Amino acid sequence: MDSALSNLLLIDECLFDEKRVQTFARAIKKSVKVGDIVVDAGTGTGIIALLAAKAGAKKVYAVEWDPEIARVAVQNIRANNFHNTIEVVNTDVREFRLPAGVHADVLVMEMLDTGFIAEQQAGAIIDLKKNSVIRANTIILPERVTFFMTALQYNFDFYGFNLPSIIQARNDGVLPRIKKVMSKDYCYADIDLQKLMSRQFSANVRLKVTQSGILNGIKLSTDIYLSGKVCHATTDMNMPIIIPIPPRQVKRGDIIPLSVEYVMGKGFRDFKIVA
Ligand SMILES: C[S@@+](CC[C@H](N)C(=O)[O-])C[C@H]1O[C@@H](n2cnc3c(N)ncnc32)[C@H](O)[C@@H]1O
Repeated sequence: MDSALSNLLLIDECLFDEKRVQTFARAIKKSVKVGDIVVDAGTGTGIIALLAAKAGAKKVYAVEWDPEIARVAVQNIRANNFHNTIEVVNTDVREFRLPAGVHADVLVMEMLDTGFIAEQQAGAIIDLKKNSVIRANTIILPERVTFFMTALQYNFDFYGFNLPSIIQARNDGVLPRIKKVMSKDYCYADIDLQKLMSRQFSANVRLKVTQSGILNGIKLSTDIYLSGKVCHATTDMNMPIIIPIPPRQVKRGDIIPLSVEYVMGKGFRDFKIVA
């Protein structure tokens, strides 16, 4: 395990993100057929595995790398009487393999975050393909993601100090601190998860300034597509992220070339945004 995002406190928080759970529930109902083999990558409380079993899956592999969380999933699955259908596998999903000759009909994976920066979604899909867990005809939920960036004037003043740090919009107070939205939302990536080949990511965007002011931040946001339906930001899955950049005065009509580069799943260690 190499992600600080994996802990017992996070997984029950996920349950309270009703928009997130309902979006997955609808997509699972639409995609999982009676008799299917389903892999739930990053099972947490087991909620997605339970939804897949309820939808008629013959067998669900609920993969979870955190041993304490895996124990919780086992208890939850047993308490709901789905232990004959759902098998909890305590391993990193990037190392997970199915028995010889078996492939997943549906892969459900909620190891999502904005821009795939911190969570292992991208690397896990690549490895599940390499390990023949999924094939070209496996339904992947979500199937597609789009990444956006927006120029901002942001209020980084906290308690009288200037503290320009990376901020995730987990708290209600984050987005109201946007002083000016200075560009439209630019789509900088449109990723079909069946076709994802590499964790290395880079993109160039030319942002057109729509409002004069001091440009000091970039908002990153992500839309997630499940069975064709788009899911905008929810409280615990794809919250926007504000990235500080060196402040500069810009005026309406200016073009700001911007490049972003990182390795998906490595967090902000290698993350570079150059404006
Ligand atoms: C955002 S939570 C989602 C939990 C649950 N699927 C749900 O929808 O409520 C992501 C879960 O994936 C697990 N996880 C993250 N990376 C993993 C990996 N590489 N292999 C296995 N589990 C992983 C975390 O420990 C966490 O329980």
